[in-house]
Amino acid sequence: AAPLAQVTIIGSGYVGLNTGAVLAYLGHPVVMVDRDEQRVRDLQAGQPVIFEVGLPDLLSQTRAQTTFTTDLRAGVRDAQVIVIAVGTPPTASGDADTRAVEQAAQEIAEGLQDGQRCVVVVKSTVPIGTNRRVKSVIDRVLHARGVQAQVHYASNPEFLREGMALHDTLYPDRVVVGSDDPEALRALQQLYTPILEQTFTPPPGLPRPDHKPLPTLMSTDATSAELVKYASNAFLAVKISFINEVAGLCEKVGADVSEVARGMGMDIRIGAGFLQAGVGWGGSCFPKDVLALQAVAAEYGYTLPIVQAAGEVNRRQRAHMLERLQDALKVLRGRQVAVLGLTFKPGTSDLRESPGLDLIQQLLRRGAHVRAHDPVALSGAQALYPDLDLDWTPSVEAALSGADAVLLATAWPEYLHLDWLDLTRRMRTRVVLDGRNALPAELLRQDGVAYMGVGR
Ligand code: UDX
Repeated sequence: AAPLAQVTIIGSGYVGLNTGAVLAYLGHPVVMVDRDEQRVRDLQAGQPVIFEVGLPDLLSQTRAQTTFTTDLRAGVRDAQVIVIAVGTPPTASGDADTRAVEQAAQEIAEGLQDGQRCVVVVKSTVPIGTNRRVKSVIDRVLHARGVQAQVHYASNPEFLREGMALHDTLYPDRVVVGSDDPEALRALQQLYTPILEQTFTPPPGLPRPDHKPLPTLMSTDATSAELVKYASNAFLAVKISFINEVAGLCEKVGADVSEVARGMGMDIRIGAGFLQAGVGWGGSCFPKDVLALQAVAAEYGYTLPIVQAAGEVNRRQRAHMLERLQDALKVLRGRQVAVLGLTFKPGTSDLRESPGLDLIQQLLRRGAHVRAHDPVALSGAQALYPDLDLDWTPSVEAALSGADAVLLATAWPEYLHLDWLDLTRRMRTRVVLDGRNALPAELLRQDGVAYMGVGR
């Protein structure tokens, strides 16, 4: 299929930027709109503005295909496909704040021209009914302006993981399109043909995975598409909480949760993914989407006890980590505790809903001294929490020397290849709480370290 004439992406955040870079790489001319002037200036100057593996290279490779602007109305004027990829942050009550989506719809309608034919695609993660809302805002504004434009609508959620965003966009398991409009479906099919048929040359550093089946285009109604996204994320969160719950039982009965998960994962009905026990889930999606799904249900007088329990187990898991440190050290007050890993997982600089940062704050409340380390997000964390009274340590050696305990909160690969025997010998008491089951347990135990994993 031929490239589209123009794709406009509204929102140069995590989703918008990664999607835009990939679509430009596939040959579509892409206009990326953001209302943050500094962000647009940085992008124009070749700064990737977010930390994502491979993104700087892909952005520089696609410069000729890409325009960055703050002018939304001008940006949609010649667009065939307009993708709304703005943020939907949680409100205090947990439901998603869709004001940026509605504002984008308003401005799209203010920019469309007489006779223009385009598809408006909602990619932001949004509550049920938002697609309908977008359509009604655009219809109202077009009507008020007396402009005749042919606008088609589709919901097209994304499933990309931070640190794997480009890979997940290029090599998805499925592409979900929610629309009852054949015109919209046709345009999105054209947009994604190179991905659906895997006809592109993989960008350097982003090889095509071996033996992966071609992605399926799943066409459905808009409301179901909106729910696929929330239900998928909630299910994955449930899966992790489930294995963390089993991990707690493993600790009681003396089993090894990694072995239990390995055995479970061999059943293809269960699947091996997302069965890694640890400090619990965090990040910008799971906590927010789990709450938003419950808020959607509440709106309809319905409850989701399993989803709710996943959140409770996740909180309990963090509390359990603290109890174990407390048990090992007897008192936490005055103890020197090193915490390694401040991002919610490796491969990202994202500190949102980070288990490590949460545990640090709980440790501080109990009177412990904390030495925090992260290979990429140390200064980011310091800037975010300027009032926290702790040592931001630039090296793992400095964090561990003389410490009473170390907690591994994020399994950065940098940590796994260290000389852990030597490092723990520098500690005052050799207590290791491996919150990701990623360190050499046997080696450490044989050398006299009080090593604790999760569920083993
Ligand atoms: C997630 C979804 O995977 C993605 O499809 C969606 O679009 C956005 O949310 P992301 O938040 O980037 O992506 O991270 P992910 O790799 O899924 O991990 C989420 C959290 O679960 C992390 O805190 C991670 O450490 C934790 N996790 C994951 C586990 O504790 N155990 C596992 O087995 C897997």
